[in-house]
Amino acid sequence: MNYRKFGRLGWDVSEIGFGAWALGGGAWATQSDDDSLAALHKALDMGVNLIDTAAGYGNGRSERIIAQALKARGSNIGGGSERVYLVTKTPPAPGTWPPAPHDDVSVRYPDAYIRANLEERLRNLGTDCLDVLLLHTWTRAWNRDPRPLETLRALKQEGKIRAFGISTAEHDQDQLTPLMAAGQIDVIQIIYNIFDQHPAAEALPVALESGTGVMCRVVFDEGSLTGKFTAETTFPTDDFRNRYFAGDRLARTVARVEKVRADVEGSGYTMPQAAIRFALAHPAISTVIPGMRNPAQAEANASVSDLPPMTAELEARLRKHIWTRGNWYHGK
Ligand SMILES: NC(=O)c1ccc[n+]([C@@H]2O[C@H](COP(=O)([O-])OP(=O)(O)OC[C@H]3O[C@@H](n4cnc5c(N)ncnc54)[C@H](OP(=O)(O)O)[C@@H]3O)[C@@H](O)[C@H]2O)c1
Repeated sequence: MNYRKFGRLGWDVSEIGFGAWALGGGAWATQSDDDSLAALHKALDMGVNLIDTAAGYGNGRSERIIAQALKARGSNIGGGSERVYLVTKTPPAPGTWPPAPHDDVSVRYPDAYIRANLEERLRNLGTDCLDVLLLHTWTRAWNRDPRPLETLRALKQEGKIRAFGISTAEHDQDQLTPLMAAGQIDVIQIIYNIFDQHPAAEALPVALESGTGVMCRVVFDEGSLTGKFTAETTFPTDDFRNRYFAGDRLARTVARVEKVRADVEGSGYTMPQAAIRFALAHPAISTVIPGMRNPAQAEANASVSDLPPMTAELEARLRKHIWTRGNWYHGK
């Protein structure tokens, strides 16, 4: 496992972090705690030292299973010596998701609410000081009045958190650029993958210039870029991918993935490896956090850090697969 600096925080974080959304079950249908524990142990055994979770992942279930694994293996959670960086997220108070431009920031992220929510995160994770607290979603309207950051700065002063940041709303990867440029957040969590390369225009360069730590999420496009789906793939009833790949989206995605596969073939990488190495090729990215549901996925994903970097030639070929979803002028 190779490690990169987490922006100006200077922490050495593993190039592959653990995306722990599915560990909460719920949106990912059935998830056994045994598989989750085995996946966590395998990843940590292989040098993964950063885990990403959230209040919303199974209403704290993902956080609690992480705490259970870390205590069992003598990590810093529970007083051991193995250092694992924990990142979790506080959602805005109930309302539209993602927050709408007219939402009042003081209603969605009030001081007392953030504080109470953090206490719950600390309890679930079994620690009295969290490494990174992220606000789970945002609207760029709030850049003009980022009041919640005052609360987060105070919580840092009070020793409840070591760092803080924001996770982008899915439709607006550039929304945090002014906050990064002004040095107001330590960390961002962002989507960057072979299909969605738009952060390369603004968000990633600004992160690099400002020393903001970058967590790269959804590197597999919720599984499609692993190359394992066909147009006939079905998901369990309560798997959110029934919505994500609704209607003809799955067939359209698979057709594009097959074109990616044609470019990956002969490179020496499998499809999941190529997806992760493509993201790691961007110097702004501190850690890529693929979701992992079992030890086989943890092993496959964690081992990608030890593979040779992607050649500039392959990266250039994969850049051509950028997909601007949601642009109606191009047709479907
Ligand atoms: N801030 C936010 O709002 C937000 C939103 C999304 C995600 N995240 C974070 O980012 C992490 C990553 O995103 P994600 O989990 O949504 O999507 P992802 O990383 O694109 O896809 C993960 C899924 O792909 C499958 N998979 C993983 N490794 C594989 C491999 N080697 N071969 C084949 N299949 C494999 C697994 O699902 P199956 O086996 O069921 O196919 C896994 O759950 C999350 O876990 C979470 O921590 C944050």
